Amino acid sequence: MAKLFVPYYITRRLYSGGGGITARKYVLTKYFKGEPKISDFQVIEEKLPDLKEGEILTEAEYLSVDPYMRAYMIGYKLPTDMIGGQVAKIIASRNKNYPVGKYVVGSFGWRTHTVCDPKVPEKLGFIPITLLPDIDPHPRSLGLGVLGMPGNTAHFGLKEICRPKPGETIAITGAAGAVGSHVGQIGKMLGCKVIGFAGSDEKCQYLKKELGFDHAFNYKSANIRQALKEGAPQRIDCYFDNVGGEISTAIMNHMNKNGRVAVCGSVSSYNDEKLPKVTILQPAIVFKELVVEGFLVNRWVDRWNEGITANLKLLNEGKLKYQEKVYHGFDNMVDALVGMLQGENTGKAIVKVK
Ligand SMILES: NC(=O)c1ccc[n+]([C@@H]2O[C@H](COP(=O)([O-])OP(=O)(O)OC[C@H]3O[C@@H](n4cnc5c(N)ncnc54)[C@H](OP(=O)(O)O)[C@@H]3O)[C@@H](O)[C@H]2O)c1
Repeated sequence: MAKLFVPYYITRRLYSGGGGITARKYVLTKYFKGEPKISDFQVIEEKLPDLKEGEILTEAEYLSVDPYMRAYMIGYKLPTDMIGGQVAKIIASRNKNYPVGKYVVGSFGWRTHTVCDPKVPEKLGFIPITLLPDIDPHPRSLGLGVLGMPGNTAHFGLKEICRPKPGETIAITGAAGAVGSHVGQIGKMLGCKVIGFAGSDEKCQYLKKELGFDHAFNYKSANIRQALKEGAPQRIDCYFDNVGGEISTAIMNHMNKNGRVAVCGSVSSYNDEKLPKVTILQPAIVFKELVVEGFLVNRWVDRWNEGITANLKLLNEGKLKYQEKVYHGFDNMVDALVGMLQGENTGKAIVKVK
């Protein structure tokens, strides 16, 4: 008698479809004013549907908190599901390419469980759903950090926009954060001199002692012009701008002719009700003939795995170091977001769901 062949993913479906699972999720009901508050959200339950062919059911293990979450929500009509990336375990599957037990990185938002078709672009983000490679003994949360969106921001932003040459000097603001700490390490590997600005003496020590930055200055206590003279007597060739504001004006005024500026973000003002006024930048841009280019990392969505693979190689070779600030509990998402914006993190800020 012919043996009945039932693919594994279908047998899993019989035992554990999406139906019957209730997800918890954060819905933004008020636009942020100043720092995000728990009262800006409602946490609600959502009954998930049965899986259709091609779909998977995931359970969040790590959720990301990122500066863009503070900056972007103003563009959404309320109420709206909160945006964000997560590392999630596949707990049921009707897609043979995404088997049960594997982990994915996806922009599922602030929610515990998700039903999705990995081929269909997500509503809540611009990053593709990717299977997390086996990165043992490193934690899977790196899929949200050096092996995820911030890692690709550092990889593509520095190499494609700043295009540093060996011997050049790179300045980085937000230098001890997820993107900045990664940019500095790549800069050193490319043979550049690297100068970072971060918000505490401990962070600056970490950048110099652990990550090999040539200089690091606490922007809260240093005289920035003096620091630039001391740290970059040859002036700056590449500036990776994570923070914006007056410090960026000072750095751009200390650049060499034909310097390149990668404008990655302006976290210094994300919580501000009134945007700051800064010293005019155009004279520096004109007289030094600077190339100033803003970018969004999804520009390289077609090369996404190229960035992940390059960073994984550096990690495996022991050339890329990382730190994480781990918050705990799905109920503490807002505290984690606020803490990250206040600078509690060195490296990537993440939330372990359970
Ligand atoms: N363009 C893109 O596609 C893209 C992608 C990812 C990230 N980004 C941007 O890249 C930047 C860094 O993101 P990240 O994910 O790596 O975050 P992060 O640096 O890990 O965390 C945010 C950091 O911002 C710093 N900060 C807070 N207030 C500040 C202020 N007033 N002045 C200067 N620094 C301040 C804090 O560090 P201190 O202790 O040093 O103050 C905090 O740790 C952000 O601007 C973000 O929006 C852009």
